[in-house]
Amino acid sequence: MKISQRLMQLQESATIAVSNRAAELRRAGVDVVSLGAGEPDFPTPAHIRKHALDCIEAGETKYAKPASGVPEAKAAAVEKLRRENSLEYSSSQILVTVGGKEGLWLAFATLLDPGDEVIIPAPYWVSYPEQVKIAGGVPVFVSATVDADFKITPQQLRDALTPRTAAVIFNSPSNPSGTVYSPEETDALAEVLADRDDVAVISDEIYDRLLYGGRTYKSFAATSSHAYERTLTFNSMSKTYAMTGWRIGYVAGPQDLIRNLGKLQSQTTSGAATFTMHAMAAALTGDQDCVEEMRSEFERRAKVLHARLNAIPGVVCPEPAGAFYVFPDVSATYSRLGVSGSVEWTTRLLGEAHLAVVPGAAFGLDSCVRLSFATGMDVIEEGLDRLERFLG
Ligand SMILES: Cc1ncc(COP(=O)(O)O)c(C=O)c1O
Repeated sequence: MKISQRLMQLQESATIAVSNRAAELRRAGVDVVSLGAGEPDFPTPAHIRKHALDCIEAGETKYAKPASGVPEAKAAAVEKLRRENSLEYSSSQILVTVGGKEGLWLAFATLLDPGDEVIIPAPYWVSYPEQVKIAGGVPVFVSATVDADFKITPQQLRDALTPRTAAVIFNSPSNPSGTVYSPEETDALAEVLADRDDVAVISDEIYDRLLYGGRTYKSFAATSSHAYERTLTFNSMSKTYAMTGWRIGYVAGPQDLIRNLGKLQSQTTSGAATFTMHAMAAALTGDQDCVEEMRSEFERRAKVLHARLNAIPGVVCPEPAGAFYVFPDVSATYSRLGVSGSVEWTTRLLGEAHLAVVPGAAFGLDSCVRLSFATGMDVIEEGLDRLERFLG
C-alpha cells in the first residue's frame, strides 16, 4: 500500500523505540533496567481515581457536551491558571484535549501553512519537529549547549526570526534537559517578539509544577499583554498528577484561536473521554498535597543522579531545575568507547550493561543522553551502578 510523502518523512519516537527495545530484551529473559520513559512511577492519586469511577457510575459515559470540554473541566483549568500562573482566562478560552500532545498537534495544524517556519530551541521534545513537519511547517532549530545550561539567548532568538516565522516553541521546564528559564529570562525572550504581531508562541508548560531548588516560575503569556494575546499555553495532567494513561490536558489562549483548534478537534477526535475530563477537574481543584509529595521525591532523586553522574570521569551533568530528566553530556567518553555518537553509545549501553536511556540525537543534541528519574530510587541506583561499570 502506498504511504503518503508526508508520513514518509516522519521519524518514529526515539523514546518509544527505546522502551520497545528494552521490552524485547526483557521478553528474552534479560534483566533490563530502564531510565528511558518519562512516566511517573506513582499511581494516580486515589481521590482522582475515585471521582472518575463515580462519574462512570453516574453515567458520564456519553459524548462530552461540549466536545471541547465539560464546564467543570474548563472552570478547573481557568482556576488553575489564575491560582498558579497569574493568568486570567474565561472558559471560552480553554480547550480540553487528549493529553498535551493532541493540543500541540491541533495548534500546529491550525497555525501553519506550507513553508511556515517554527523556531524550536534544541534540545527539544521529540514530537515538536515531527508534528510541525506533518502540519506542513519547517522546523528552524536554535541550539543551546550544556555550557549555556541548555537555554537559548534573546540574541539567538532574534537571529532565528525571519519573515516566514509563524511560531516559536517555548518549553520550560524542559524535556529533555530539565532546564527552567527564570522569570527574567522569560521576560527577555518575550521582549524579542514584542514587535512581531504575526508570531504565535507555543508555550508547553506541562512540567510547570515540577520545580526544584525553590525556583519560581513565570508563564510566557504572563510576561506582557502582547505575549498574552499571542500565546497558547499547554498543560496536561500526565506528569503533575501521574495520569499519563488518562490522556487528558488542555490549551488556553486567544478565544478565536481556541475556537479554531476546537473546530479541528471536533472533526478529528471529538475530544477527550467525558469521565477523564471530570478526573481533570478533580485533579486541578482537589487537594494538591499529592503534587508536593511527588515533586519532593523527584527532587531527592535529581540530587542523587546529579551527584553520582558528575563523579563519573567524562560525564558533565548540569543540575536539573525542573521536570524529571537529567541530560548529561557524555561526548568525552565517545572516543574511549569507540562510538560515533549518542545512538551508538546508548545501543552499546543497552546491549552490554542492560541499561536503557535515550540518545540525545533524538532531542537534537548528540553529545548528551537522557536519563529519566520518574522511576524508583532502587532502579535509579541500580542504573547508576551499571552506568559506572560500563564507563569504568
Ligand atoms: C515536553 C512535553 N510536552 C508534551 C508531552 C505530552 O504529554 P501528554 O500528551 O501525555 O500530556 C510530553 C510527554 O512526554 C512532554 O515531555
